[in-house]
Amino acid sequence: MPPVTDVGGVRVGIVGGTGPQGRGLARRWAEAGVPVVIGSRDPNRADDMAAQIGAGVAGAANESATEGSDVVVITVPWQAHATTVRQLEPYTRDKVVIDCVNPLGFDERGPHPLAVAEGSAAQQAQALLPQAHVVAAFHHVSAVLLADVRLDTVDSDVLVLGDDRAATDLVIGLVDVIPGLRGIYAGRLRNATQVEALTANLIAINRRYKSHAGIRITDV
Ligand SMILES: NC(=O)c1ccc[n+]([C@@H]2O[C@H](COP(=O)([O-])OP(=O)(O)OC[C@H]3O[C@@H](n4cnc5c(N)ncnc54)[C@H](OP(=O)(O)O)[C@@H]3O)[C@@H](O)[C@H]2O)c1
Repeated sequence: MPPVTDVGGVRVGIVGGTGPQGRGLARRWAEAGVPVVIGSRDPNRADDMAAQIGAGVAGAANESATEGSDVVVITVPWQAHATTVRQLEPYTRDKVVIDCVNPLGFDERGPHPLAVAEGSAAQQAQALLPQAHVVAAFHHVSAVLLADVRLDTVDSDVLVLGDDRAATDLVIGLVDVIPGLRGIYAGRLRNATQVEALTANLIAINRRYKSHAGIRITDV
């Protein structure tokens, strides 16, 4: 594996960071010494959540969290993705934007991927944020495991996709500072469709086996 990119000095803003996925990532990054701002539509809610997570995490409105950060993470529901991301355009220019949104539907036969006009949520984000470097990552990391204070490590690989090498290297660095996680480059952004869709398989596994399954890539 190539050397890990130094993420020292990088400040992360999490849009929709009051939800389980954003809170879990915020906690793990803060523990690793990465300063985090969790964003919300309601800055008071963000402040309350940040105080609950602990040292190293602040709260702000989504726009302020984005504007004040070097790297922006999108953790809103798919149904809110386009509307939320579009509003962030002025604050994300030349920044790395991590998208971990899974466009999924649920019916009587369980979870299934939804068709996205742009190909994937990550490609939709790149289309809406043409001056940002969008990277797809963290789709398969369970929020439950991230939040579990009994776990010192979160044992999973994280597929990292994007069109800009420096951006994907930086995100791999942000993955690797979380104990147990390992970031692996997995192709250009046009390959995000199947990565997002694979989450439907993982949720089906979790339902059958009462697990919080992640993925491991062999021979890397
Ligand atoms: N949960 C997981 O294990 C997991 C794992 C991997 C990836 N993901 C992906 O990560 C994303 C977030 O997951 P989550 O479980 O944390 O989601 P969530 O709790 O449903 O939503 C996260 C936050 O998004 C904001 N939000 C909700 N509806 C919104 C709307 N209509 N417009 C703007 N903001 C809205 C809310 O924050 P405010 O009300 O404070 O604004 C909420 O706390 C999802 O797209 C999911 O596919 C989740």
